[in-house]
Parts: sequence; C-alpha cells; structure tokens
Amino acid sequence: MRKAIILVLVLILLFGLSGCAGKQDPAGDNASIVVGFSQLGAESSWRIANTASMEQAAKEAGYSLMMENANQKQEKQIDAIRSFIAYRVDVIVFSPIVETGWDNVLTEAKQAGIPVILMDRMIETQDDSLYTAYIGADFYAEGRRAGEYLVRKADETGADKLRIVEICGTTDSTPMRDRQRGFMDVIGQDDRFTVIDSVDGDFLRSKGEECMRELLAKYGADGIDVIYSHNDSMTLGALDVLESLDDPAAKDMILITVDGEREAVDALKAGRINCVVQCTPHLGPDVMKLVGDLKDGKELSKVNHPDESAFTDFDDLSDPAVEGF
Ligand code: AHR
Repeated sequence: MRKAIILVLVLILLFGLSGCAGKQDPAGDNASIVVGFSQLGAESSWRIANTASMEQAAKEAGYSLMMENANQKQEKQIDAIRSFIAYRVDVIVFSPIVETGWDNVLTEAKQAGIPVILMDRMIETQDDSLYTAYIGADFYAEGRRAGEYLVRKADETGADKLRIVEICGTTDSTPMRDRQRGFMDVIGQDDRFTVIDSVDGDFLRSKGEECMRELLAKYGADGIDVIYSHNDSMTLGALDVLESLDDPAAKDMILITVDGEREAVDALKAGRINCVVQCTPHLGPDVMKLVGDLKDGKELSKVNHPDESAFTDFDDLSDPAVEGF
C-alpha cells in the first residue's frame, strides 16, 4: 500500500513538472518553449500560406506550437488568448482580425507576464506596452505602391479621367485601413482620379465576386476604369465575373491587386491583371527568430517589416524573380 502511494506521488510530481508548459526545462532546449498562436481565420490563400509558414517554422525551430483558428471571429481570438494565459504558454503570437478591442485581454497577458508578438496585423491602443513586438507588412507602403503604379499608368497612357472602384478587405483591419490610406495619399489630390465607390469584400474570393456583380449593376462596365482590390482572393473573384461577360469594356479595366499569390502573378503574366503589390505570408521564420531572441533575453525591435515590392505590366515578367507564393 505504501509503495502504491509513493508511486502515485511520484507520478503526480512528474506530471506536474511536464504540465507547466516546460518552463522548468533544465536543458533549456527549444521543445520546452510553448508558443500559443491565435490565427484569425482561413479567408484567403495568403492566410493559408501564412498558417503553413508558422507551422513549418515552429517545427524547424523545435518549438511546441499551440494553434487556435478563430474563423474570422474576434471573440474566438479573445477566448484563445485567455486559454493560452491559463495554460501559461511562454509566448503568445496573434494576428488580430481588427485593430480595436484588445486592451483587456492583453492586459491579462501582461499581468501574467506572458510576452505578446503581433503577427501580420496591428492593434490600436494607447498602451504600447501591451505587446512586445510587431512583425508584418507595411500596409501603408503597399497602398502607396498601388497608387504609384496607377499614376505611372495614367502618365504613360495619357489618361486624364479614371474612375476607380475599391474592393476593400475586412473593415477596420490594419491592411484595409492602411492600404486605403496609402493609396489615397498618392492619388487623392490628383484630378485625373476619382474613387467612385468603396465596398467591403472581407478578403474573400466569394465576396469579391459578389462585389463585382453589384458594382457592374450600379455603374456598368463602361462606368469603371480601374479596380483597386485589397487582396488577390477578391481580385480573382472579380476577374471571374468580368471574364464571364461578353463586354470589351470589362476586359479594358486596369486591375490592381495586393498579395502576390501564384494565381494572381500568373494572371499578371497573361495580361489579365496589371499590377500585383507584394505582401509576403512567409512570416513564420521571422516570428520564430523573435521567439528565440525573447528566450535569450534579447531586446526586440518594436516594429519589424519584411522587404516587399510590386510586379507590374511595366516590368520584364519573364524574369524568374517574378513569381507568386
Ligand atoms: O493581413 C494580410 C491580409 O489578410 C492579406 O492581404 C489577405 O489576403 C489576408 O486575408
């Protein structure tokens, strides 16, 4: 009987140690580091590639990745973060679906002493100490690149009146806000350009299709000269609609898109899209590098952007560097 009690106590002790998210790992190996990752959804090819990049990079670094997918619901992301806090993970990484509404849950993470890395999207807060670092695209610069392409296109073709429709990503998300702001800062004061409508396509291909049908019903193909779409999924949906029409005006529109997935880059090469602004989903290795730096007690840069550019119909598209993800 005594032996049985001792055995149970030993088992409880062993289980207790391995159940503390490995925080007391004497060897300090990476497998003892648990990264809680709240992904916002699976709305686009970009997002799917981003999730794969995170999983692959965590595996290569040897970290344990605890991932929760929120299916585009902020409440689910908040629940996931709370469960990571309860589990006492070592680091929380999350991609906030919208910018506002995070202060309470991030304060809880801060009080629990768990560092937070924002991946891909930013938050709006008065308290920058709620996150340790941000790693993701400079969406404002992406919007500017889209605008700069359009200005060059108008210069080279001599167009003096271009009516633009904008198909936006998820309302109040960082890419939606900043891609719009960057674009408008470039074209907003130029009389040649008028944004006649901005609609919400939620970064979904199906919604891009729906938006395009509605815009065509409202303005007709000959009432639209330019489509500026905040991601490839929505652009490809819109393109499906345009190409199903037997209308030359639908084929003449200038299409500007953001992301750089393979299907969009192929469409650019085939002359069906005019400009693809790059946004890399391959953030996993950089995120894991930040996790490693944290583990080593290094100071992190607060804002970290990957290098990005744009592919356009002014470029040599046979260059092997012009490829999608
Ligand atoms: O936050 C990055 C954006 O989110 C990508 O442009 C889009 O495709 C994704 O859904």
